[in-house]
Amino acid sequence: MSEEIKKTAAWIKEQTADFRPEVGVILGTGLGDFAEQIEACHSIEYKSIPGFPVSTVEGHKGRLIFGMLEGHRVVAMQGRFHYYEGYTMQQVTFPVRVMQQLGIRHLFVSNASGGINTSFRTGDLMIITDHINLMPNPLIGPNMAEFGPRFPDMHNCYDKELIARATAIAAQENIKLQYGVYVGGTGPTFETQAEYRYFKAIGGDAAGMSTVPEVIVARHMSIPVFGVSVITNCGLSDEIGDHEDVQLQGKKAGVKMQLLFRRMIKEL
Ligand code: HPA
Repeated sequence: MSEEIKKTAAWIKEQTADFRPEVGVILGTGLGDFAEQIEACHSIEYKSIPGFPVSTVEGHKGRLIFGMLEGHRVVAMQGRFHYYEGYTMQQVTFPVRVMQQLGIRHLFVSNASGGINTSFRTGDLMIITDHINLMPNPLIGPNMAEFGPRFPDMHNCYDKELIARATAIAAQENIKLQYGVYVGGTGPTFETQAEYRYFKAIGGDAAGMSTVPEVIVARHMSIPVFGVSVITNCGLSDEIGDHEDVQLQGKKAGVKMQLLFRRMIKEL
């Protein structure tokens, strides 16, 4: 595995004239537009990258974009890999390992999720303050000691300083923020009403099908993480889960997320 990661990273370095990103960004469902903010110098389709899985979900473009944003070298994943697509957890998190090898010092993650906190509204941005993992743990298996410890600590999983900075920026930019715990399930079904109530009862504020594996792997490697969830539906209302609606709401609320990410990166 470690050899595969290094081979892929070496291949990418060759293709990008040794571009060394400082920041990695993962763009979730409907949030791919953020990539347009980057002054791109290289763009590589996942399907052409040796060792990379290929994304199959509608609305996920599936490419790595390298370039400058607010004076910082950035690599963005336009589209990610989900466990529900049938990939192993090692495949889902492979790009995060590769981005670490390329040199990232921060990881910004975004996703679309269903609000469970009843004070949340469709279109809200939720800063992820913590998560509950209901998927298999991506670190199961022999530990890759060169990347991190066998039993990684998960305190401060979502970097407190970055959260404080987001709060300050949101106040300046007049962006309303929610804060909460992201519950990561496998999907691909949206939750039943009983499951949304269960997620709420165990301390969740939003439900989704991604992000947690990538964050665990980033934290294994001690990379500070900042995460934002766009609330695309409210689980405990009578709304019916619909992927197209999630994409649309993601695009709309994504504008606020883009501004927040951009300002956060500027201040790194
Ligand atoms: N549940 C799980 N994942 C989601 C949801 C949801 O309600 N909305 C968007 N992604």
